[in-house]
Amino acid sequence: MNKFNATIVMLLVASLAITGGKSIEKRNKLIGSQIAIFYPSDFNPGANLPSLAFEKEPTAIGEIPLGWKLVPSFYHVGKETCAAFPVGEGVSLYGTGEVTGPLLRNGTTIDLWNTDTPGYKRADGKRLYHTHPWVLGVRADGTAFGIIADNTWKQKLILTDSIRFISEGPAFRVVIIERKTPQEVVMALSGLIGKMYMPPLWSLGYQQCRWSYEPDSRAKEVADGFINHKISCDVIWFDIDYMDKFKIFTFDKTKYPNPTEMNDYLHKRGMKGVWMIDPGVKEEKGYSVYDEGTKQDNWVKDATGKDYLGEVWPGKCVFPDFTRPKTREWWSGLYKNFMATGIDGVWNDMNDPSVFNVPTWTMPENNINRGGGGLPEGSHLRYHNVYGMLMVRATMEGILKANPDKRPFVLSRSGYLGSQRYSATWTGDNLGTVEHMKMSIPMSLNFGLSGQAFNGPDIGGFGDKTSPDLFAQWMSMGVFFPFARGHAAKGTNNKEPWAFGPEVEKACQTAINRRYRLMPYIYTLFHEAATTGMPVMRPTFFADIKDLKLRTDDENFLLGDNLLIVPKWAKNNLIPKGNWKTISVNGEDSKNDKYQADILQREGSIVPVGNLIQSTAQYSTDSLTLFISLDAKGRATGSLYEDANDGFGYKKGEYVMWTFTAITKDNMVNIDVKQTEGTLKTKTKLFKIKLITKSKVLEKGWLKANQLKVKM
Ligand code: GLC
Repeated sequence: MNKFNATIVMLLVASLAITGGKSIEKRNKLIGSQIAIFYPSDFNPGANLPSLAFEKEPTAIGEIPLGWKLVPSFYHVGKETCAAFPVGEGVSLYGTGEVTGPLLRNGTTIDLWNTDTPGYKRADGKRLYHTHPWVLGVRADGTAFGIIADNTWKQKLILTDSIRFISEGPAFRVVIIERKTPQEVVMALSGLIGKMYMPPLWSLGYQQCRWSYEPDSRAKEVADGFINHKISCDVIWFDIDYMDKFKIFTFDKTKYPNPTEMNDYLHKRGMKGVWMIDPGVKEEKGYSVYDEGTKQDNWVKDATGKDYLGEVWPGKCVFPDFTRPKTREWWSGLYKNFMATGIDGVWNDMNDPSVFNVPTWTMPENNINRGGGGLPEGSHLRYHNVYGMLMVRATMEGILKANPDKRPFVLSRSGYLGSQRYSATWTGDNLGTVEHMKMSIPMSLNFGLSGQAFNGPDIGGFGDKTSPDLFAQWMSMGVFFPFARGHAAKGTNNKEPWAFGPEVEKACQTAINRRYRLMPYIYTLFHEAATTGMPVMRPTFFADIKDLKLRTDDENFLLGDNLLIVPKWAKNNLIPKGNWKTISVNGEDSKNDKYQADILQREGSIVPVGNLIQSTAQYSTDSLTLFISLDAKGRATGSLYEDANDGFGYKKGEYVMWTFTAITKDNMVNIDVKQTEGTLKTKTKLFKIKLITKSKVLEKGWLKANQLKVKM
């Protein structure tokens, strides 16, 4: 018996020991087409429900059919509760949320316990800021499954010779999705845990951050820097130093005396401002947030029932108990005046929750969250992993209340399976090293395969001095991530695109220009993510799920289905079968460029490309270039989503989905443009055609939609 079989026999013996060999639990049911829920026999609803991962409590639609492929074994080892699944030969494992290491998760072990981990150094990088008890499995034939452990408690996820969730909490239920393809599994996941919200267009632009731009004149200088250097940028970020002694919802009187004027300054230049709010509230009598919260009894309690005090940036802090509806209501109300200064988006950090100067880097496990509104009172051990998610839920509600006609934008460091319903995320405090640059690709890919499509790393690396060469390399690929923000830690070198000299500045300008020109395509992908759950950034193997060679590729990645991004440093040369053609979206020659990634277009696709803009404030789809790569039959298709770029009119049909179809007949390529969905009235568009053939690019334009013909 090999090691794998031995483990499975052990698991089965253990599960029989629990069930006493009795037949399957009655609560096990089908909860969707090819989606089953399994309960351990000692499941205690009070210790687990309501689920915080699922958007709605799953309802049974029938019995699990005979021959259901993947069945969990539930068992206990000492005080731990476990669910285990066999992994068949040739199954590739992915997902598991935010993780360091390779894309392919087979053979890995992680801890699901949200942790502030500077440089990913704590617990050997096996614990990060998010918890996604979720595994995507892709069989050799391309069929796929997904497993959700519906469990917020501290757990381990072991993917060595089987799939095991080992929890320090009570027995938990699991959901298994079966589908023909991994893409369908990921979409089915979003059917259960919800989709990301449609973000405002500006949040897809390039964004510049530093801990911290201070005083406000420095932030203005950076904003002007982008304009003067002709580098497109949409957002300037405001880290903790804008606050008065790190007290949230305050502004330092000397460094940031007039936030309204600061935000106006950005708005006048077509930019936005995103400002930080942490959960820790400084314990200081006379500070209104502390006084009000104390009066309303809003804080997490220690085991003796007193307000828990932990140290974060401002010193001793209390922490809102976000399991309480009243606390969430109060928290969301705090954003009213804050947003009234013209703030466009909110950055919730340190919500793992991080506590300094304690060996666990967080609150004691026996702290008490009081719950309410359906959530029972529970220990920190139960609620730790959802602290950040409950926080951003309240934040999002708050900024929506403050600005009901604008799409909210919240960035959160911490999260749990389902957090995409409330916030985008970034991969925390990485370092300016080649290793972290390369690792950002599998990290973001697995995040996207776990429901969190809107994510990205600190471009250039947060910690450490970043070298000019690394910065240019990183920017050249980082611009193709869903969330594209440069950020840097205090005390590190300046990391604005122009801070490294003219060669790097040029490389950054070229890279950022490419992102902006691809904005119509990228915005369409975000619409897809928000409506179907498909990630924006996808692993190469999505292009050919049966090609086993591609399963390990974590150097190249797909942006949508139609573009493959090949970073300059990529060595593995894993290009999916078919005719992928290198394109130049803004006149760049990536093949002969030291830094720019190659962009390869899939045959049979049409990619809409916009014009150069300084920020998305100038975004327009009135004139578009269609990059067309015909398949062997001389055909190609593509689409473009457009709406008001912000607001909620799109929910009432005020949007357009355009479908482009190219068909070749007698050496003539005819391109048809159709409005296939939506009621938004748009201006007559002008198109330029770039037809990419084997030997050359044929160009024609500008033409109206009914004139689109190119002779081959
Ligand atoms: C944390 C965040 C980082 C931020 C810093 C100061 O380390 O992860 O992005 O700059 O705190 O607020």
